[in-house]
Formats: sequence, C-alpha cells, structure tokens
Amino acid sequence: MTARVRKAVIPAAGLGTRFLPSTKAIPKEMLPVVDKPAIQYVVEEAERAGIHDILMVTGRNKAALEDHFDRHWELEQALERKGDHMRLRRVQKSANLGNVHFIRQGEPRGLGHAVLCAKTHVGDAPFAVLLGDDLIDQRDPLLDSMIETQERYGGSVVALMEVPEDQIHLYGCAAVSSIDGADEQIVRVDSLVEKPAIGEAPSNLAIIGRYVLAPEIFEVLQHTGPGRGGEIQLTDALLEMAADPQRPGGGVTGVIFGGRRYDTGDRLDYLKAMVRLGVRHGDFGADFRAWLTSWIDSDEGRGRLVDADRAGEPEQHGG
Ligand code: G1P
Repeated sequence: MTARVRKAVIPAAGLGTRFLPSTKAIPKEMLPVVDKPAIQYVVEEAERAGIHDILMVTGRNKAALEDHFDRHWELEQALERKGDHMRLRRVQKSANLGNVHFIRQGEPRGLGHAVLCAKTHVGDAPFAVLLGDDLIDQRDPLLDSMIETQERYGGSVVALMEVPEDQIHLYGCAAVSSIDGADEQIVRVDSLVEKPAIGEAPSNLAIIGRYVLAPEIFEVLQHTGPGRGGEIQLTDALLEMAADPQRPGGGVTGVIFGGRRYDTGDRLDYLKAMVRLGVRHGDFGADFRAWLTSWIDSDEGRGRLVDADRAGEPEQHGG
C-alpha cells in the first residue's frame, strides 16, 4: 500500500463574505458547527482516511486557524488544575490531529491557484483536497473510496453528488459515462464545466468538495488561465486532464456520493447542518430532538407568534 495518499490540502483563504459581520474578525472556518469549528470536522475526516499530513492554504486574518491546531499550555494547565479532564481532552484533541502545516496564498486568485500553492509541499504523489464548506458524515466514508478509486484507475478523482436542477449552477458540473465492470457509483468523467449557466448544465452531477488529484495537476494549473469569475478554476485544470486520459496523470474518475453531506457554505444551509448534526450529538442530541419536535408544533414553531410579532411591528418602508 505504498501508493496510499498521505497528504491533504485544505484551501482556507476565502474571505467568508456570506457570513459577514461574523467573519469580520474571525475566519469562516472557525465558525462553530454545534460545538466544534467547521475546519476541525474536515481535519478529522482526513485523519480517519489515514492522512496525517495536512497543508492549509490560508490568507490574511487566519491566525486563529494556526492557534486552533496548536497546543494552548495556559488553558491546558488551568483545566488540569481544576481537574476538568473532559474539557482538557477536547482542547488537546484539536492539537493532536496530525501534522498541520500552513502556507499563504498571497493573492485570492481562486481555488485552482490555492491548490497550486501546495505544489512544493505535496511533491510527486497523488494527494487529497478537502474543501471546508462541505462536511461529510463520518458514517459515510467518501474519502476512502476515492483513494481506492485513484489507486485502481490512476489519474484524478472527483466526488460527485446529484443535486436538484435549479442548484447545479452553483457547482462544478460533470458529464460522465459508465466504466465496464465498475460499480455504478464509479464513473468516467468525460467533461466538466464550472458553474454552468442555468439550462446549460450537462447533467445534475455536482462536484462536491473532495478531490484526489494526480500531482501532474500542478503543471496544468501553472498554465490554466482565469475562468469563471476571473479566477483560476480547479475544474478547468481537471477538464484538461479528463480530455487527455493518455497523458501522465491524465483521466478523471468520479465517485458518486449518496451519503450525508452538510453544507456550511451559506447561512441557511449552515443552520440546517447545525440541526442535523445537533440532533445526533452524544451529550444533548436526544434532548435537542425532543425539544425541536415539540417546538415545531408550537405556535412559535408554526410561525403564528412570529406572524403576530410582525403584525405588531411598525411597517418599514423604503431604505
Ligand atoms: C468550488 C468549486 C466547484 C465545486 C464547489 C463545491 O466552488 O469551484 O467546482 O462544485 O467548490 O463546494 P466554490 O463553492 O468555492 O465557489
């Protein structure tokens, strides 16, 4: 198993504008999902897949990420003195998650450019890329099957998920065909388009934020010009790889994911992720579920009180 993917890259340089003002002074990756920062779920996922070398590609104002994955001696000693071993373990856990390295992207030139920043660190072996906005349920081990797929078919591997037609323009989209003898969720990627215009998507298969990439992607990224949104798109570099399966590191395979994914990338989806993960929490999930169920049927849950409150508010006209 020498070819096993050993390094992961986590792009984390985004400004988090969708969450302003919460992200004015803290990185969006540090926003809590139930009781852990979103980024910790992603690092834990990589660890579970046997990847202990993690490179975060960050930017300005991301110092909190480095602190989070570092020891905090004062806090640890204070908890130790109080005999609060449960919290001590929680604090230590985030510092004991593999080897987390940091590099800065410098200029916000897109996901493809962020991945290119990892070139020297990654070297010449296949590596994983995990995007922090997508959390994958730990009961549905997607990364393992992507790594196995890369070992079997070579080239690069993307995670795909069926999304409703009116959502596909928010994602990279793949045109795929079946592979003889493979499970039906393993497909050949024939073509890719980044955020297709409405009505022009070749399928309803969206790229979700997990990739296993051949190191030759770096050479392609070096000459990939700005694409959608004026940014250097990873999707565009992968399209070049998909179009030429014979080149070194060429060919792209898709793993169609049917498991549980939690999107923390926009405010509404973030709230949904909190509820779905909150009801599963070992300490208070059952209580939260019971409360939620009865709240849904309450006047407030049905929106009656909210409507009444609104009716009582003076109407706001104009801006
Ligand atoms: C990025 C990729 C896109 C992919 C998405 C998954 O877009 O460019 O292809 O579908 O992540 O979350 P972003 O969400 O950063 O705009």
